[in-house]
Amino acid sequence: MNFKNKNILLGVTGGIAAYKAVELLRLLKKAGANVNVVMTHSAKKFVGRTTFEVLSENKVLLDLFSDTESSVTHIDLATNAHAVLIAPATANIIAKLAQGIADDALTTTMLAVTSPVMICPSMNSDMYANIRVQRNLDILEEDGFNILDPDSGVLACKSVGAGRLPDPWFIFDRFEAMLVKKDLKNKKILISAGPTVEAIDPVRFVSNHSSGKMGYAIAQAAEKRGGQVTMVSGPVSLDPPVGVECIDVVSCEEMAQQMLSHLPGSDIIIKVAAVADYKPVDPADNKIKKKDHGKNIAISLIENPDIIKLIGAKKTKEQFLVGFAAETNDLEKNALLKIKKKNLDMIAANLVGSSDSGFKADTNKVKLFSRDGSSLDIPLMEKSKLANILLDHIIEKIG
Ligand code: PMT
Repeated sequence: MNFKNKNILLGVTGGIAAYKAVELLRLLKKAGANVNVVMTHSAKKFVGRTTFEVLSENKVLLDLFSDTESSVTHIDLATNAHAVLIAPATANIIAKLAQGIADDALTTTMLAVTSPVMICPSMNSDMYANIRVQRNLDILEEDGFNILDPDSGVLACKSVGAGRLPDPWFIFDRFEAMLVKKDLKNKKILISAGPTVEAIDPVRFVSNHSSGKMGYAIAQAAEKRGGQVTMVSGPVSLDPPVGVECIDVVSCEEMAQQMLSHLPGSDIIIKVAAVADYKPVDPADNKIKKKDHGKNIAISLIENPDIIKLIGAKKTKEQFLVGFAAETNDLEKNALLKIKKKNLDMIAANLVGSSDSGFKADTNKVKLFSRDGSSLDIPLMEKSKLANILLDHIIEKIG
């Protein structure tokens, strides 16, 4: 989601977690948003308004009467906001919003807001569990507010339970997801990502340079667009995207088993994984010792199952199968051949071997080829952006 030219209203209330709102503001600004902070007097006891003013590059609204340049600043802020995020949200603000009370700058502004709102409750676990707080949260939910559940853990008051404000990156991720159009709602999407690792012995293996970045970016984008995403991933050092069911595998055999068992019921299957085409015939049980071999050692390899070909043979007419092709030459010829041989609906072909596309890079450049003969050149861009263009194209094809 592009936050450029988006006005985001960040409401900060008086909880110990108010310091996390500073990092949230930073993340929103980094994403390109214009952020206006409205804070309560209690919030000011935890974080100074200057911090928010410097980082947001906007005046903070704290007092309805003394802070405003015009008598309707709060209305302007509410009307111009594309979305509102209140973090942390205390029991007090939750109660006031649920009852429509307007007795300070934030609550008064909120009554005039018509854009999507996310509320992030944060308080002591007994307060959070209190029936009145829960009742107020239910009211807000029924009114169309999005409530982000607090984390559980040790709280500032040393008690343990639900009430901790989630990490800023997580709040940002869910806030962004709230604003993305849900054009993959009710779609089950099965993705494979990362490399496969084929053992030679307990310490050595055959694999490739896939970092998982491309596959993870597609899984993350599809989840934000409302898809129910399952990702089968080879060993990578990335965190699983929020909301995605992630199944870790190591070898091609394991990936094949998981992909085939999740195939029934999937609407869209995207095979981004770089699967090892061959594996050692007979992996050694113990570490192969140098002293047992001369200057040369030969490792016999045997063909791995072609997972996407197996899926292509099994898939129903309703299932849409997308492959990736990593090529060092003859991109178009090889990609078109793979569509035919593996019964694909679409293939994303990328030239690998340069530092800014293909393996490991944050960016990629692909050409999409469809079974119907159409093609689309996608220039070099961030993998996260490319993921969304790929999904747009798939949605267009499946209607
Ligand atoms: O992970 P990153 O570092 O972000 O890098 C991304 C990427 C370069 C790995 C990705 O963009 C990519 O190109 N993935 C496909 C890599 C690949 O295995 O290409 P291929 O041309 O060898 O295979 C074609 C298709 O067959 C792929 O969809 C592959 O998943 C599938 N395949 C291949 C072999 C096999 N035994 N089983 C398969 O399913």
